[in-house]
Amino acid sequence: MIDQIYRKAVLTVSGQKFVEDIVRRQGWGLAQRFVAGEEVDGAIAAVKELQAEGILGNLDLLGEFVASPDKANEFADKVLHLLDAAHAAGVMPYASVKLSAVGQGQTVDGQDLGLTNGRRIVSRAKEYGGFICLDMEDHPRVDQTLAQFRTLAEEFGTQYVGTVLQSYLYRTEEDRASLDDLRPNLRIVKGAYLEPESVAMPDKADVDASYRKLVYAHMKAGNYVNVATHDESIIEDVKHFALAHGIGKDAYEFQMLYGVRRDLQRELAAAGYRVRAYIPYGRDWYPYFSRRIAERPANVMFILRGMLKG
Ligand code: FDA
Repeated sequence: MIDQIYRKAVLTVSGQKFVEDIVRRQGWGLAQRFVAGEEVDGAIAAVKELQAEGILGNLDLLGEFVASPDKANEFADKVLHLLDAAHAAGVMPYASVKLSAVGQGQTVDGQDLGLTNGRRIVSRAKEYGGFICLDMEDHPRVDQTLAQFRTLAEEFGTQYVGTVLQSYLYRTEEDRASLDDLRPNLRIVKGAYLEPESVAMPDKADVDASYRKLVYAHMKAGNYVNVATHDESIIEDVKHFALAHGIGKDAYEFQMLYGVRRDLQRELAAAGYRVRAYIPYGRDWYPYFSRRIAERPANVMFILRGMLKG
C-alpha cells in the first residue's frame, strides 16, 4: 500500500508543469542513467555494448501522445529511420512503439492513424526480420491497442509483432486468454501508470500475485513470454516454474530496463537465459524518466542529490 501511495504522489507531482520545467532544465545529466542518448546513434551504441555482454536490445524512441496527424507521421518516420539505422549497423531492429505517439485515436482517410502508422512500422520491421512490441499505455487505450495488435498480428504474423499486458489491471487475465488463438509473443509487466482503483489493484501483493498467474498461464498455453520485471523473487519463481513444467529457456526471456539492475541482467545472461534490455533514447525523456522515479523511493533521493550538486 505504501508503494502505491508513493507512486501516486510522484506521478502527481511530476505531472505539474513547474516541476517538469525544473527537471527538464536540470535533469538531463541524471536522466542518462535511464536513457541511452538523445539521438539514434547513442541508442545503437548502447545495444552493441550490451550485446558484447550477451544481452539483447529493445530500442525505444521516446515519445507519447501527439495531437496532430503531421506530428504523428513525423514520429512514425523517425521510428522507420531507427529500424533502417539498426539494420544498417548490423543490429536486429527490435523496437517498442507507443501507438499514441503515431496517431492512435486520430482518424485520417477513414482509418485510425495509429493503425496506419503501425502497419508501416511492422511492415518495415518484417522486411528486416525484426520485431515490434506495442507498448501498453494507460487504461483508456487498452481496448484499442489490443484490437490494433490483433489486426497487425493477423496481417504480418506474431513473429513480427507483439504487445504488453499489465498485471495491475483487473481485466488482464481475460485479455490474455482472449489472445490465445493468436499464439502471441507477449510482454508481461506490472504496470507503470497512475490508474484509478476502479480498474487497477491498489495492493502491490495482488499485483505481484496477478503477475505470476499471467506468466504461468501464458507459458502453459505454449506461448512465448517476455518476463519484464526486476523483481528477483518473481524471476526465481518463473525459472522454477519453467523447469518444473519442462518449458525450455528458448520459450521465454527476461526483460529489464536500461540502467536498472545491470548486475542481475548480466547474471541471468551468464546463466544461459535470454535477457533483453529496453533501451530508450530521444529528446522527449521526461514522462519516461518520471515513471522510473515513481517506481522506487531511492530514485527520488538520487534526483534530489544530483540536483543539489548542480
Ligand atoms: P517492482 O516495482 O516490484 O520492483 C522490484 C524491484 O526492482 C524493486 O525493489 C527495485 O529494487 C527494482 N526496481 C524496479 N524499478 C526500478 C527503477 N526504476 N529503478 C531502480 N530499481 C528498480 N509498463 C507499462 O505500463 N507499459 C509498458 O509497456 C511497459 N514496458 C516495460 C518494458 C520493460 C522491459 C520493463 C522492465 C518494464 C516495463 N514497464 C511497462 C514498467 C513496469 O510496468 C513497471 O513499472 C516496472 O517494471 C517496475 O516494476 P517491477 O516489475 O520491476 O517490480
